[in-house]
Amino acid sequence: MKIAVIGTGYVGLVQGTCLAESGNDVVCVDKDAAKIEGLKRGEIPIYEPGLAELVHRNARDGRLTFTTDLAAGIAEAEIVFIAVGTPQADDGGADLSGVWAVGRQIAESLNEPKVIVIKSTVPVGTNAELTRLMTKVAKVPFDVANNPEFLKEGAAIEDFNKPDRVVVGVRRPEVAETLHELYAPFLRTDRPFLVMSPESAEMTKYVANCLLAAKISFINEMANLCEVYQADVNDVRRGIGHDQRIGFHFLHPGVGYGGSCFPKDIRAVIHMAKSRGLNPRMMLAVDEVNEAQKEVLFRKVSAHFRGDLAGKTIAVWGLAFKPRTDDIREAPALVLIDALLAEGAEVRVHDPEAIDNVRAIYGKKLTYCDRPYGAIEGADALVIATEWNEFRNPDFEVIKRLMHRPVVFDGRNVFDPERMVEMGFVYQGMGRVVPEPKAAEAEPAESQA
Ligand SMILES: NC(=O)c1ccc[n+]([C@@H]2O[C@H](COP(=O)([O-])OP(=O)(O)OC[C@H]3O[C@@H](n4cnc5c(N)ncnc54)[C@H](O)[C@@H]3O)[C@@H](O)[C@H]2O)c1
Repeated sequence: MKIAVIGTGYVGLVQGTCLAESGNDVVCVDKDAAKIEGLKRGEIPIYEPGLAELVHRNARDGRLTFTTDLAAGIAEAEIVFIAVGTPQADDGGADLSGVWAVGRQIAESLNEPKVIVIKSTVPVGTNAELTRLMTKVAKVPFDVANNPEFLKEGAAIEDFNKPDRVVVGVRRPEVAETLHELYAPFLRTDRPFLVMSPESAEMTKYVANCLLAAKISFINEMANLCEVYQADVNDVRRGIGHDQRIGFHFLHPGVGYGGSCFPKDIRAVIHMAKSRGLNPRMMLAVDEVNEAQKEVLFRKVSAHFRGDLAGKTIAVWGLAFKPRTDDIREAPALVLIDALLAEGAEVRVHDPEAIDNVRAIYGKKLTYCDRPYGAIEGADALVIATEWNEFRNPDFEVIKRLMHRPVVFDGRNVFDPERMVEMGFVYQGMGRVVPEPKAAEAEPAESQA
């Protein structure tokens, strides 16, 4: 099929590339000329495992092209995906200006009937509103459908190729058939193709993210409770996870959720509910718990140093909002870094992929290190904010040698508290029970957060 994807970001580039890989002719469109020029030269604007190779192969074979010219990009397309950003607006709702702008441009350029598919996460009613707007402008008939995206950054290619399900919201069964044909190569393993109204499809995406965010805030609250009562949240997780009604997924305590989706999507749902006179109590609490959770790690560090962080050197491992991505949008690590800097600490940071994005924001305020061990040189404490695999099995003797003091705040429960204490570290996890050190050589924790 001939496909156009408008908006070549995390979602659009993955969507376009994977559809090209399955034999379609894809044009990726973006208004960001530098991004498009870079892509034409083979430069991939984001880090996503496996993506570069696929982009290069499909571009070389002529199935994947890039342009800033929307009218030319969609001229031949049977299906046009809209994958532009829908960030949080000032009122907490979703900013749909990109969707409206693209919709208008598509309507102005329509030369033959096409299916326009909203892939961006959009509030309920957007499909209907876009149809209304485009109808005023377009001279040929068209369909607007909704096809929410469920990919996880860091595993986006795999998610696209083996989706748990594909959801489409359509007004006419023929449109569902067209989309089924497009997705059929990815549905070989009996993954369901679910057809519903655009309103239900729009809602499905938000409900999925609300539930996932709620699980994270839930386990974070429970972890904080575990900690004050000397229960170990890891044991509690094992104790509950085998119950099939509960399971293990998304119940890892940490430093709070971040990224380009959960925070803004939860707030968009709050906005949707309030604007219809409903009180979204649970989602308000999910958001509030998350905002508080982003402070927990800093409070532990501050308490350990009795509130005196001036001149202390703090190493931070992990800056992206989660592993296997360079995305730092709403990353909890940045909240921690801001608080450390505000208290006068010197901050040395390492992340396998996100350093450049962080440097673009913080400039000379931080010391950037290519290697994890570089970041801890002379450090008074190491804080782990993102659980990259590379952090799981470091040489602890080297760490002890390089650090000024062997103090570790593990915001993702990457290490085993017992082992850390045995090795002479002062260690704090999230909701973990930390045994008392046996030998006097370990520096005592000055305070528990
Ligand atoms: N990132 C994710 O993991 C993810 C997962 C599921 C759903 N989503 C949703 O998908 C949408 C896109 O997210 P993203 O992370 O890919 O965003 P992004 O910011 O990475 O990319 C958006 C792209 O759209 C381009 N754009 C904006 N306005 C444009 C216009 N008028 N014409 C052409 N291009 C335009 C931008 O230049 C940018 O390259 C959002 O609604 C998001 O909520 C994202």
